[in-house]
Amino acid sequence: MSGKIPKIVCIGKATQDVFLKDDEFDPHKEGKVMYTHLPLGAKMDIDDLEFATGGNATNVAVTFARQGLHAEYVWTLGYDPASEAVLRALDAEGVLTHNVHQDKRYQAGYSTILIATNGERTILNNAGKATNADGDNVKLDVIKTADWVYPTALMKGGVELLRKIVDMAEEYNVKVMLNPAGTELAKPNKLKGILDSVEVLCLNKEEAQMLVEGSTSEELVRHLLHYVSVAIVSDGPRGVVASDGETIIRAGMYEDVKVNDRTGAGDAFASGFLSQWIQGKTLKESIVFASANSTSVVAHIGAKPGILGKHVKLHDMPLQEKQL
Ligand SMILES: Nc1ncnc2c1ncn2[C@@H]1O[C@H](COP(=O)(O)OP(=O)(O)OP(=O)(O)O)[C@@H](O)[C@H]1O
Ligand SMILES: [Mg+2]
Repeated sequence: MSGKIPKIVCIGKATQDVFLKDDEFDPHKEGKVMYTHLPLGAKMDIDDLEFATGGNATNVAVTFARQGLHAEYVWTLGYDPASEAVLRALDAEGVLTHNVHQDKRYQAGYSTILIATNGERTILNNAGKATNADGDNVKLDVIKTADWVYPTALMKGGVELLRKIVDMAEEYNVKVMLNPAGTELAKPNKLKGILDSVEVLCLNKEEAQMLVEGSTSEELVRHLLHYVSVAIVSDGPRGVVASDGETIIRAGMYEDVKVNDRTGAGDAFASGFLSQWIQGKTLKESIVFASANSTSVVAHIGAKPGILGKHVKLHDMPLQEKQL
């Protein structure tokens, strides 16, 4: 990378996550689904307990910071224990947080995550209290100082706030990375109207099918390229298809690891990709790092602990690249 270090402003909800892990959370046990093991009135002892912070925008900010980029987190938070935990975690990673609007009216989300023995999870989520629909209390002016903006999980703001962010980015020549979550996906038609302003788009297959036609990831990627410069469609352990309009890559799994907790897989992939692409790495190099980052994240409990640092040694992975 030559010249100045790029800055990415990450916008969206924050949570504190408490992970509860126990052999009882076995999806195959007596053919039952997990929550039938939580009978009313029972007190259940849990073997393992772990605290972590989450919220897509906070997770991706940590990838950027660990990759040596300037990352700033912008949102509304309170003085509740969850908000304080999020701020502490981001500060410890060197993510800028001084433009977070902290006020006692707000509260971070809080999720209780029951981890099944196969790494899948059930989440009991309290969304917390954050910005109102117009996002007026989020310090969006920070976007003007950025090279890239990464909005995701905008809660009540939804597609309307996303539109506001994207318009501002366009006005100030700031590029947009979009890996939508939560309320942005609630209005697919409106979301589609925003795609023309997006540089890099990362979706899972179901999300892509909400926006464009296509039965295979490759078809979906080709259709998304009518709107964005780089399109990536992921399909869980089945891997990803990605294209920058010149070549198209189909990549499998980076490593067949034991999945301990799949929370944050999508965030690690999308942010892992951008962290390399921004530095001028090739499509292939960026996909390999994204895959390594998400594989490492699913091997750890919580969305942040597995995020890779700089100078990590990568190995080859199943991947084919061809001209588009
Ligand atoms: N079981 C797994 N083993 C290894 N890697 C995985 C696994 N699940 C996901 N990944 C990696 O994470 C990437 C993104 O996963 P996925 O397609 O499930 O995204 P997502 O549905 O957006 O996830 P999220 O629910 O976190 O938003 C995959 O392309 C893959 O590289
Ligand atoms: Mg996702």
